[in-house]
Amino acid sequence: MSDGSSFYITTPIFYVNDVPHIGHAYTEVAADVLARWHRQAGEKAWLLTGTDEHGQKILRTATANGVTPKEWADRLVETAWKPLLQTVDIKNDDFIRTTDERHEVNAQKFLQHLYDAGHIYTGEYEGYYCVGCEEYKQPSDLIDGTGEFAGQQVCAIHSIPVELLHEKNYFFRMSTFADQLLALYEDNPDFVQPAAARNEVISFVKQGLSDLSISRSSFDWGIKVPWDDSHVVYVWFDALLNYITAAGYGHDDEKFSRLWPATHIVGKDILRFHAVIWPAMLLAAGIEVPRRVFGHGWLLVGGEKMSKSKLTGIAPSQITDTFGSDAFRYYFMRAISFGQDGSFSWEDLSARYQSELANGFGNLASRVIAMVVRYCDGEIPTPTVFTEDDELIRATEKRATDAAGEAISRLAIHEAIAAIWELVDELNGYITSQEPWALAKDHAGRTRLEAVLYTAVRGLGTLAVLLSPVVPQATAKLWQALGGSGELTDVRIDQAWQWTGGTHVSPLEALFPRIEVTVG
Ligand code: ME8
Ligand code: MG
Repeated sequence: MSDGSSFYITTPIFYVNDVPHIGHAYTEVAADVLARWHRQAGEKAWLLTGTDEHGQKILRTATANGVTPKEWADRLVETAWKPLLQTVDIKNDDFIRTTDERHEVNAQKFLQHLYDAGHIYTGEYEGYYCVGCEEYKQPSDLIDGTGEFAGQQVCAIHSIPVELLHEKNYFFRMSTFADQLLALYEDNPDFVQPAAARNEVISFVKQGLSDLSISRSSFDWGIKVPWDDSHVVYVWFDALLNYITAAGYGHDDEKFSRLWPATHIVGKDILRFHAVIWPAMLLAAGIEVPRRVFGHGWLLVGGEKMSKSKLTGIAPSQITDTFGSDAFRYYFMRAISFGQDGSFSWEDLSARYQSELANGFGNLASRVIAMVVRYCDGEIPTPTVFTEDDELIRATEKRATDAAGEAISRLAIHEAIAAIWELVDELNGYITSQEPWALAKDHAGRTRLEAVLYTAVRGLGTLAVLLSPVVPQATAKLWQALGGSGELTDVRIDQAWQWTGGTHVSPLEALFPRIEVTVG
């Protein structure tokens, strides 16, 4: 974990047909928390995100808006998708666009390699295509439409009618990889997570795999098939390759061998692409499969997946403008078990903001620092005698550090935060029971007062280190107020409890100010 090894983590690359909503921000934050955590554990973490810009969905959107698909993509990337990263405070190491030359050229290399190795053939296909998913659908993937689509078969994810397509295409012999994939899931139980996602993928592959149509010839917005420029590469085949083209595949071998394989964080809507098609492509090319694929749950609105196409999206800035990016990050990582679906509600967000961030954590920090200022002139005491109560806090700091790290290694972000919050709660209880304000009243209490304030300050230092990946802005302020040396993000998170601390505190503004406005 701490040997400077590399931790390469990715988000999906998002379609630029529309602007992001909080579902996209959710994936970004989860991947960013994991990247920041691993970086702070001494690993060389590398976070990749980006945009998926080819295919019929983007072409249609651009055409409907009277611009070329590239103009449309440029506009959305600059005005919406890159700004999203600022909105929720993502520290990504790279941003790939599938229209980047580094992607197009090396995706073509990959395809040519598969073609030369005999994994690709010409065939004909007729089937139902969902442009929302950019995927051919099986009859079992369709449901009866309602409302304006009553009487038609619609995509179960997008609730829009599918289109019957008949094309002569190039095919990837994916069916030949079914047994190798099943062996992969068997030998490497963590490859697909969580367990429910793994089971679903295994039963899907056990039914047998079809070959995959990997080109389209009825439109030309895509990467040209290298040996036949009357076809463009199927948008999913193109998109999945971003994970290796950005990591140096085909053009920077040193980088590629350093970074690959990756941990992929995706929504469960696109799990099969990542857990079946993608490893099959890599097996065919003789490239190592990903380290793991984690399919997280959906943010739901009225029991349905929040979606761009159904116009149920909430813009991330609607939340961050009021509550700030830290609160956004904390709320979604804490309130939803990573891997499960979750419903967003303004009431729940406000309640957690107030009770957990403002009262639980922020207030604790302000009170302790204010007492060090008031009772010790801002100087952090250096006591030598501790009681069992103090030792219990010490033990909790160690336990929270270890438990949170262990949870993160399982990608259980919500469990990591819950483990850290035990320290928040215990410190609050400790302050209440030790009553430093009473100890400060007479001289006899001085030794205890110093031990209590020191213990509380050190506990806050531990919290700053442990919570830094989740709430980077508040913890940076806290770290500064505690007189912590250097950048907080350079302090080893796996040794958070060993914080040695500064000598003086400085005043701290409210980390999570009271929010008066009513939202919704
Ligand atoms: O599928 N809840 O892009 P996309 C949680 N371009 N997460 C959600 C969500 C919700 N309601 N809605 C979207 C694509 N997401 C392809 C990916 S990767 C090689 C190509 C998040 O713009 C979640 O991560 O439709 C989901 O998997 C992704 O956005 C889909 O984004
Ligand atoms: Mg989608």
